[in-house]
Amino acid sequence: MTAAEYFEQMYAESSDPWQLAERAYEQRKYALTVASLPRDRYRRGFEPGCSIGVLTGLLAPRCDELISTDPVAAPLTLARQRVGGSHVSLRQAALPDDWPAGPLDLVVLSEVLYYLSAAARVQVLAHVMSTLAPDGHLVLVHWRHRFEAATCTGDEAHDEVVACEGLVTLVKHVERDFRLEVLGRG
Ligand SMILES: C[S@@+](CC[C@H](N)C(=O)[O-])C[C@H]1O[C@@H](n2cnc3c(N)ncnc32)[C@H](O)[C@@H]1O
Repeated sequence: MTAAEYFEQMYAESSDPWQLAERAYEQRKYALTVASLPRDRYRRGFEPGCSIGVLTGLLAPRCDELISTDPVAAPLTLARQRVGGSHVSLRQAALPDDWPAGPLDLVVLSEVLYYLSAAARVQVLAHVMSTLAPDGHLVLVHWRHRFEAATCTGDEAHDEVVACEGLVTLVKHVERDFRLEVLGRG
């Protein structure tokens, strides 16, 4: 699992290390992500690893309640400035242990699974299975290429989830650099 200090250091060096707010690549990926949501409205969403809250800002209008978390305090401060609304809760918390009570009808795992160990990914999947509402949707979006800080590729992380009995793929978008999937209960 990628150590918390790694992310603390990244945010100490740059307020937006991945240029999530600026890069056209990220804006397009976020647009595809929210356009892929099968429903217009969700009751209770969870978005761990929210960083500075760019995707959070697009998810918030779609949710009655949205819980977005990141283990690092600095990006959460920016996320709070970016995303308003009393229905959005931005908390300092880390996977796999910090998982809100269900039922959740939207879980968004965007560019976060490959920072977890294989064991932590198993824990996350167990959390999904125990909290995802019967009509809930699980969204996965990940960069497909291998990189130093990652414990696996995005494809490997997605394949693990897709193989889980009880989940079916509703939306799948694959291109050279990222893979986007929306799953529901079978
Ligand atoms: C590449 S950014 C992705 C941000 C956002 N989800 C997106 O798709 O634009 C990865 C984020 O995951 C956070 N992160 C790292 N380890 C985590 C963990 N164990 N639990 C939750 N978030 C984590 C990092 O602090 C960082 O803000």
